[in-house]
Amino acid sequence: MLLTVALANLLVICSSELSDYPIPKDFMLGVATAAYQIEGAWNEDGKGESVWDWYSHTFPERIDNAATGDVACDSYHKWEEDVALLKELGVDHYRFSLSWSRILPEGTINYVNEAGIEYYRKLLQGLADNNITPLVTLFHWDTPRPLHELGGWTNPLIADYFAEYARLCFERFGDLVQNWITINEPQTTCVQGYTEGIKAPGYSDEAEGVYLCAYTHVLAHAKAYHIYDEEFRAMQKGRITIVVDSMWCEPASDSSEDKEAAETEMEFIIGLYANPIYNGNWPQVVIDRVGNRSLLEGYPRSRLPEFTKDEIDYINGTFDFFALNSYSTNYIYHQIDVTESIGNGSYLLDSGIGAKVNSTWKSIEGIGWVNDVPWGFRKLLNWVHNHYNKPDIIITENGWADLTGDLQDQDRIDYVAGHISAILDAINEDGVRVFGYTVWSFMDNFEWTNGYNEKLGLYQVDFDSPDRTRTAKDSAKWYQKIIKDRCLVDKCQDASL
Ligand code: BGC
Repeated sequence: MLLTVALANLLVICSSELSDYPIPKDFMLGVATAAYQIEGAWNEDGKGESVWDWYSHTFPERIDNAATGDVACDSYHKWEEDVALLKELGVDHYRFSLSWSRILPEGTINYVNEAGIEYYRKLLQGLADNNITPLVTLFHWDTPRPLHELGGWTNPLIADYFAEYARLCFERFGDLVQNWITINEPQTTCVQGYTEGIKAPGYSDEAEGVYLCAYTHVLAHAKAYHIYDEEFRAMQKGRITIVVDSMWCEPASDSSEDKEAAETEMEFIIGLYANPIYNGNWPQVVIDRVGNRSLLEGYPRSRLPEFTKDEIDYINGTFDFFALNSYSTNYIYHQIDVTESIGNGSYLLDSGIGAKVNSTWKSIEGIGWVNDVPWGFRKLLNWVHNHYNKPDIIITENGWADLTGDLQDQDRIDYVAGHISAILDAINEDGVRVFGYTVWSFMDNFEWTNGYNEKLGLYQVDFDSPDRTRTAKDSAKWYQKIIKDRCLVDKCQDASL
């Protein structure tokens, strides 16, 4: 254990020296946001209610300072200014999401809100006029409330509603979009929204929530993929995938038990969503562990829904690239055997692991979920490369959270630089195929349950001002320079070498 920690520290020191590999000219550098977190205008121009509108209005005590996304960054009204700032930043791409209930107020396609369509078409046209490639997420957690009332992501029929919504978006926006993301981070929705009850819709179904939710998400993604593939790809020539998220799980020691625990946790976090799409079916270790524990707990069958053979084939291969979000690393250790602590079914016990961080890793007190461990990120890239058959990878989110929102944000610069550096090393030394990187976030915004307390933006937003004034932080200026120079250090190796 001590040795592992010492080695990890050494790696941290080494990785604090930034890579001098040049950033390839065609490597995409961008920033990201999501509809509920920035748009505001929650009930304007015919928009319907989403599960986050409902959750933040109904349970103010569950969100820091009873914050809501009612106004947020007001991007619904300030999109032209946003596009101008993106232009100033010089990004290659902008990842943002469409609000399902702005387009379909009831969630279903019998009634389309043309004002919503018009808003996104104006934004997309603005990006096109400025040569900024849009990376469009169809769903970033804001389920239309009427569909939530039908069980939301625990109801597999939602997959069909999602597919119909996706088809409409391909029809109405596809001439301006070449890069589609179906769903953002199902892991977060399923664990935090349906199992731990700490994000909308706030369900605490520890036994089955996460698995029913994972099943529906994977199915919904596959349906949207097939629609794109069969009805739109030939004409629109775009590409489409899902965003999955994961921290890196580093074994806490060299013991085979801890190594196995770390690998198991990777499969529970990322494999549950990625394996059906990239390899076919749930990861075997998840099938075995949940199946065995379910039987011991007295369930007649596994709490993890079984895919039919047809479903496995239908879902397998529904990707054009791999989109990955990641913020941190944890040490993982073996905690319980599959036959131990049998009681009521629990997702949190199914994997049987424990997690901890190293106190020397940089993080901000009070923000437990981000730590600055670029070597872990590089290992994660390698893991994805090796597990999913060497896909083309884009990092669709990575960023640093603080509580001050200060314009002098050297910690954010260090974090982003370290992570891009890890990517350059992974590309050049490990052969991992990464083609892009996206900072979360373009600007400070509604950080879900943390309201406006946690800040991740390159641009500061003054939430006290009706204008929601945006101001470039040091990190924005630094990123602008990196995008232009394509080099993290004073002088990079010659690109032609
Ligand atoms: C989500 C973002 C969120 C970010 C920081 C990601 O999990 O996709 O919406 O703001 O993490 O918490």
